[in-house]
Amino acid sequence: MCVLCHTDQQKFGATEATRNVAGDTFTSATAMVNGTSQLDFPQMVHQIHMGEDLAMANHDLVTDGGAVAAVTYPQHIANCNTCHANVAATPQYLNWQTVPSREACGGCHDAVNFITGFNHPVDPATGTAIQLDDTKCQGCHTPASLALAHIPAVAPDATNGGLTAAQNGNPSNTHTNASFVGGDINNLPAGAHWFKWNIKSVSVTAAGLPVWVFNFLQDGDPTKPVVFNTWAALATPATEMMTGYVGGPNLYMAFSVPQDGIAAPADWNASVNVNLRKLWRGGAACWFELGC
Ligand code: HEC
Ligand code: HEC
Ligand code: HEC
Ligand code: HEC
Repeated sequence: MCVLCHTDQQKFGATEATRNVAGDTFTSATAMVNGTSQLDFPQMVHQIHMGEDLAMANHDLVTDGGAVAAVTYPQHIANCNTCHANVAATPQYLNWQTVPSREACGGCHDAVNFITGFNHPVDPATGTAIQLDDTKCQGCHTPASLALAHIPAVAPDATNGGLTAAQNGNPSNTHTNASFVGGDINNLPAGAHWFKWNIKSVSVTAAGLPVWVFNFLQDGDPTKPVVFNTWAALATPATEMMTGYVGGPNLYMAFSVPQDGIAAPADWNASVNVNLRKLWRGGAACWFELGC
C-alpha cells in the first residue's frame, strides 16, 4: 500500500533542490531532486538504507528524528537482491537491473546531478552529460553492467585474529570476517563460490551426544562435495579446513528434553553448538596456533 502515496506526485508544489559548489551538500529543501520526488518509494527506500554511505549532506528525509545518514544497513548496501528477492515467482524481481531511472538510481547515487550532468560522464553521441530521459538509461546501463557494478563483497578485517601473525595466534576480533564474504550467491565475483550444507541426518545418541551427518557441496553441485584438509598441529600459518578459505561456520542444534514431567515437550528447550573448525581440529588446545 505504500506506493499508493509514495509516488512521484509528492514533488508537486516543491522546487528543485539546490546544491553547493562542491556538490556535496544540499542548500535547500530536498522534496524534489533531479526533477523527481525524494518521497517516491524507490528513491526514499534506497536513500534511507544507503544512509551513512550517502555522499550528500542535508537530505530532508529523516528517520528516528536524526539525519538519514544516521541509518545503517546490516549488510553490504550493494546487496540488491536482499530486497529485490531473486525468486522467479516475483515476476518483476529483475527490475533492479532492467528499469534504471533517476529516482531509483539517484536514491543512492545522490551526488549525481542529472540536470547539470555533474558527476555523470558525457555521452559521446550527444556531447552532454545531462540525462533527463529515464527511457535512455537502460541503453547504457544494461542488466549485465548493473549486476557487475553492484557485486556485494565485504573485505576482510585486517585485525582479525585469524590473519595477524603479530597477535601470535591470540584470537582477537574473531567475530569479524577473516576473508572476503560475498553477499549474494546470485551475483558473486568471478571465481568465487558458495557452499551448500548437505545435511543427511541429525540425531542425539543415548549418551546425549549430538551427531550431525553432512557435507558441503560447492555451488550446491552434488558432484562437487568438499573434501576437508587434514589439520596439522603447529603449522604456520595454521591449516584451514578448505584451501583458500579462512575459518568456518558454526553448527547449532535445538531440541527438546523431558521437562516438568512432560516426556517430549513440543517446544525446544535445549541446544548445543560448536564451531566447525574447532570440531575438525579435534578440540586440541590452540594457544600457540595461528588462526584458532
Ligand atoms: C496515505 C498515504 C501514505 C501511505 C499509504 C504511506 N505513506 Fe509514508 N508518508 C506519507 C506522507 C504524506 C509522508 C510525509 C511526507 C512529508 O514529510 O512531506 C510520509 C512519510 C513517510 C516516511 C518519512 C519520510 C521522511 O521524511 O523521513 C517514511 C519512512 C514513510 N512515509 C514510509 C512509508 C511506508 C514504508 C509505507 C507503507 C508501509 C508508507 N509510508 C505508506 C504518505 C503515505
Ligand atoms: C532496502 C531495500 C532495497 C535495496 C537494498 C535495494 N532496493 Fe531497489 N527498490 C526497493 C524498493 C522498495 C523499490 C520500489 C518498488 C516499488 O516501487 O514497487 C525499489 C526499486 C528499484 C528500481 C526501480 C524498479 C522499477 O520497476 O521501476 C531499481 C532500478 C532498483 N530498485 C535498483 C536497485 C539496485 C541497483 C540496488 C542495489 C545496488 C537496489 N535497488 C537495492 C528496495 C531496495
Ligand atoms: C542501494 C543503493 C544503490 C542503488 C539503488 C544503485 N546503486 Fe549503483 N552503486 C552503489 C554502490 C554502493 C556502489 C559501489 C559498489 C561497491 O562498493 O561495491 C555502486 C556502484 C555503481 C557503479 C560503478 C561505478 C561506481 O561509482 O562505483 C555504477 C555505474 C552504478 N553504481 C550505477 C547505478 C545505476 C545506473 C543505478 C540504477 C539502476 C544504481 N547504480 C543503483 C549503490 C547503489
Ligand atoms: C550514453 C550512455 C549513458 C546513458 C544514456 C546514461 N548513463 Fe549513467 N553512466 C554512464 C557511464 C559510462 C557511467 C560511468 C560508469 C562507471 O563508472 O562504471 C555512468 C554512471 C552512472 C551512475 C553512477 C555514477 C557514480 O556515482 O559513479 C549513475 C547513478 C547513472 N549513471 C545513472 C544514470 C541514469 C539514471 C540514466 C538515465 C536517466 C543514465 N545514467 C544514462 C553512461 C550512461
